[in-house]
Amino acid sequence: MKFEAQAPSNIALIKYMGKTDTNENHPCNASLSYTLKNLNSTVQIELIHDQSLLETKWEPLIGFNFELNEKAQVRFIRHFESLCKQFGISGRYVLRSANNFPAACGLASSASSFAALTKAAGLLLREVKGVALSNEKMSQLSQKGSGSSCRSFFDEWALWKDLGAIPLELPFTDLFHDVITVDTGVKEISSSEAHKRVISSLNFVGRPERANKRLDVLIKTFQDKNWQSAYETVWAEFWDMHSLFETSQPSFGYITEKSVKALNLCRDFWRREEDGPLVTMDAGPNVHLLWRNDQIQKRIRLREMMQSRGLKLWCTDLKDHH
Ligand code: PMV
Repeated sequence: MKFEAQAPSNIALIKYMGKTDTNENHPCNASLSYTLKNLNSTVQIELIHDQSLLETKWEPLIGFNFELNEKAQVRFIRHFESLCKQFGISGRYVLRSANNFPAACGLASSASSFAALTKAAGLLLREVKGVALSNEKMSQLSQKGSGSSCRSFFDEWALWKDLGAIPLELPFTDLFHDVITVDTGVKEISSSEAHKRVISSLNFVGRPERANKRLDVLIKTFQDKNWQSAYETVWAEFWDMHSLFETSQPSFGYITEKSVKALNLCRDFWRREEDGPLVTMDAGPNVHLLWRNDQIQKRIRLREMMQSRGLKLWCTDLKDHH
């Protein structure tokens, strides 16, 4: 028996950073994300009946050149086994997974892969026990495996306050997503480590309140269809998160010279055009852009400008990633 599911990645505009409970991934503040429908993970679960397999294992999905390091494999298997335990399902399985986006583009894939794993486990549950889970329920279950994955169960906007995310309707839909791929290497400090370290920053005092306040402001701004104010709020939010990184003890950071160059070009673009993309950064050096669907020409102009300055901009709705 094989069960296969896909799930998209998501990018947070109000960030989840800092946990009140590490085991359950309870966030210190609410977060808001946009689903990245072009960046997908696929997970396949196969039940092995014979004795050839002693315990559940991970391998890359057939036909994909995809790898997970040992630690990531253990985390992936542990999440699946925890789901099976909750569902009252036993057996030994082969878990296969892959991403449709290049591993080398330096994008976090835990959100999409854990969401896809939870979905595939949901299919197994339906087959074995005849129980169908809602997206909200799967979101709650996925949160335990990877916090940000709980926002990957909804088509566009997802709001995560405490236990599982919910979909949110906002006036801006069908956004385009670009990534300025500054650095494609593996990051030294994982996001799990970042969640722990930020608590040591003196700037963490008041951070949950600031993030929650910014969330209210951003939702209102979107509802008022004020794109420029949304850009300003989103910009302040990622800098807030990165300031926590820089002021942690010990300090760490992801922003490189190239990231700063890209950010400055984005800000110059906004100043000149009085319009532009929402700009944000995750726990990494790459810069994410979200565009309204009526900004095609501006998007092309910014892409050309970035390329002429030696920066690579990947439009994630296009196949070529450079
Ligand atoms: O789900 P995690 O533990 O990988 O945390 C991800 C946190 C950020 O990507 C930095 C921000 C967010 O809200 O997605």
